[in-house]
Amino acid sequence: MTRTVVRLVRPDDAEPLVSALAASRDHLSGSFPTSWDDLLDVGAQRRRIDRALRTHTEGRNWPGVITDADTGQVVGRAALHDIAHGSRRCCFISYWLAASATGAGHATRAVTQLTSLAFDDLRLHRVDAFVRPANTASLAVLQRCAFERIGVARRHTYVNGDWHDETLLQKIAPWDAPGLLEPPASG
Ligand SMILES: CC(C)(COP(=O)(O)OP(=O)(O)OC[C@H]1O[C@@H](n2cnc3c(N)ncnc32)[C@H](O)[C@@H]1OP(=O)(O)O)[C@@H](O)C(=O)NCCC(=O)NCCS
Repeated sequence: MTRTVVRLVRPDDAEPLVSALAASRDHLSGSFPTSWDDLLDVGAQRRRIDRALRTHTEGRNWPGVITDADTGQVVGRAALHDIAHGSRRCCFISYWLAASATGAGHATRAVTQLTSLAFDDLRLHRVDAFVRPANTASLAVLQRCAFERIGVARRHTYVNGDWHDETLLQKIAPWDAPGLLEPPASG
């Protein structure tokens, strides 16, 4: 059985990420607000990783790569963004796979691992996901991970020169209970 590990992105992931993106351009077209020239530039990719790791140290995101645990190969990215603490304790999740890595459950396992990290390690209360209504593969991933469909956020994201509607889905922490702000300390 294929195994998957999500780990924190590293600066030396820039090259394998660019290779994965270059081989998946049709599959990933319309997925990013960034230009493809920028996405396929190893230096720009490394700077993007450096920026993500800096904001990670401030507790604002969790930038990961999806790896095939059997080969160690980087097969995509998955991340938690806009981590809010205080009385909201939430974030939103994003992910993509190289075209050659689809159809094996990597995204489902990656989302499962990242939501557990959000609820157990980061002690967040809710993870949001925004998906284009026509993106059935991504909606299926979230359905397998027991996200609940909330509704459509109108003209939510600007990609490829226009604003797009996106379906909002949410998952609430398993530790949620009336009156509880954060999970009880273990042990
Ligand atoms: C969204 C995306 C990550 C989904 O990829 P995916 O390969 O369909 O998802 P998974 O890795 O979970 O694999 C699911 C498939 O593997 C199969 N599978 C095999 N073993 C599995 C397992 N153990 N667990 C779950 N699924 C498994 C499923 O049946 C499913 O097959 P199907 O496509 O024939 O229905 C991918 O299409 C993608 O990168 N899209 C472009 C970027 C994007 O849209 N990102 C999300 C933005 S919101």
